[in-house]
Amino acid sequence: MAKNLLSIKDLTKEEILDLIKFSNNFIDDEGNFRKENLFPEKIVANVFCEPSTRTKSSFAIAAGNLGCSVVDFNIDNSSVQKGESIFETVDALNLMGVDLCVLRHPKSVIRELAESLPKMVFINAGEGAISHPTQALLDIKTIIDHKNSLDGLKIVIVGDLDHSRVTSSFVEGISNFDVDSLIFSGHPEMCSKYQNPEIGKYEPDFEKALQDADVVMTLRIQYERFEKDLDLDLETYKNSYQLSTSKLGCAKADAIIMHPGPVNYVEITEAVYDSENSVIRQQIANGVAIRMAVLSRFLSS
Ligand code: NCD
Repeated sequence: MAKNLLSIKDLTKEEILDLIKFSNNFIDDEGNFRKENLFPEKIVANVFCEPSTRTKSSFAIAAGNLGCSVVDFNIDNSSVQKGESIFETVDALNLMGVDLCVLRHPKSVIRELAESLPKMVFINAGEGAISHPTQALLDIKTIIDHKNSLDGLKIVIVGDLDHSRVTSSFVEGISNFDVDSLIFSGHPEMCSKYQNPEIGKYEPDFEKALQDADVVMTLRIQYERFEKDLDLDLETYKNSYQLSTSKLGCAKADAIIMHPGPVNYVEITEAVYDSENSVIRQQIANGVAIRMAVLSRFLSS
């Protein structure tokens, strides 16, 4: 296994499956987490230079459940506000004895940091619009929990795909498996990177895309990443791309509905979020189990 988790491409299919299997040891069927003092001598720093609720808290909880000390770095009261670069900030943590740095940053800085600080382990918790490997692992775990395998599934991803690091890492992760079909759907101006994808195909008609789907991953519009205003009429957008109970009728009856959060109820209705098909709340719990597995493996290697 590589020293750092910078991209899901750093993992082989066997390593992905091993991490998922290992994560099952950390969560029971009721969603309770195993807590054990496995790494009392290790210090994990949670360095988030972009907003986060789920990812940041789940890394902190995962590290705590494993007995690590956690340094919760808050960019708003840090020296970054005094003009310090991320390189000096992380080097300072390194000199203080931090063993592992969980990093979310709007720019692609993680590779250079990992090269310049070889003693520290780096886990990518979100790299601009580029990648989000632990989200892909928890998404794949959630699908396997419900469908046993990814092989033979019809998977639909809908929403603002161009700005979605969740989509890019998920696509890289599932390229290891024999999914039956992968369909990208959404407003053409939010799916320009997916018009002629390397794997899968783009279907602008969301109801057509949904036909016989086993898995539907919905994504919010990431306004904070838009370079120019889209001049979007939200009601028209919802008519076409919001996953509603009636659109869900096009998918298989046992289709699972996913969303990485935060949910805006533009991309999905509250009724679908609360429906029996929704596994969105399980994704949140699986996030802790996956991060416990990732931290354990990368702290031990
Ligand atoms: C995603 C992210 O930050 O990329 N959220 C998450 O990690 N749970 C998706 C998003 O912000 O829409």
